[in-house]
Amino acid sequence: MTQGVCWLEGRILPLEKACVPVLDHGLLYGDGVFEGIRFYAGKAFLLAGHLRRLRRSARAIALACPWSDEELGRITEEVISAFDGADGYLRLIVTRGDGPLGIDPKPCRQPRLMVIASHLQMVDPASREAGIRIVIASTRRLPPDGLDPRIKSLNYLNHILARIEANRAGADEAILLNGEGKVAEGTADNLFIVRDGILLTPPVTDGALAGVTRRLIMQLARDGGIETRERSLAPYDLHTADECFLSGTGTELVPVREIDGRALGACPGPVYRRCLDAFTATIRTHCGGASS
Ligand SMILES: Cc1ncc(COP(=O)(O)O)c(C=O)c1O
Repeated sequence: MTQGVCWLEGRILPLEKACVPVLDHGLLYGDGVFEGIRFYAGKAFLLAGHLRRLRRSARAIALACPWSDEELGRITEEVISAFDGADGYLRLIVTRGDGPLGIDPKPCRQPRLMVIASHLQMVDPASREAGIRIVIASTRRLPPDGLDPRIKSLNYLNHILARIEANRAGADEAILLNGEGKVAEGTADNLFIVRDGILLTPPVTDGALAGVTRRLIMQLARDGGIETRERSLAPYDLHTADECFLSGTGTELVPVREIDGRALGACPGPVYRRCLDAFTATIRTHCGGASS
């Protein structure tokens, strides 16, 4: 069975057959940007927010993205229809394209677009129900004057190093702190905690990606009467939280049951459950489907 399909240079190919040249600077240097987008019941979820962030990421690294939102929308529709399944995960990737081996992007004349439709299961169903175990990694989020965390670039190496730490600790996910020791985010997700009934998440300026799911959850929580604030968090806040959960396109929403070996009081907690219900209802309203 094919893993999925990929739009590449105007053609839709089985994922296993879709190849890029070894001189693509996305491969050589991580020189490119990407988005992950869920689709439910054959419809891309929160597409506009993802395309906005893709375009901003590309602008931030001075990468031309000559495809209009309409073209990208049409391509994603084509890819979803070619995919064998109504629910899945899209990956839009724009690289600097092919160039000589040197790091200089100037000779790269033609950016390359790939749009993949596939399956992505970041969390197994049992852990989604019972909650996951996370650890705070010693690997730090890169500082904004090195690589701004708002850019969703193809450089995930410090996240991968953090994830290796989680694997070695037998945990499901790692949380990265910023250079000042404040909580930034997970390796591919944003973090929320609940303290005294208030939903808290680190501000983007502490090194979090401006998650599209994070933003939706904050909105849904506020609409549902849950007091929600962006606030800097220290490891202490995580260790002593009433509840904790992660959000992301790949992750969707997942509750946390243990942080650095400390069991949390409630998992899945009441605030998480309310956010999950509102999230699932939003998916149904927008796409007619439900999260897995
Ligand atoms: C580093 C990082 N943080 C957070 C997120 C969650 O963002 P979103 O909800 O837009 O998928 C992602 C998603 O890929 C990510 O890679």
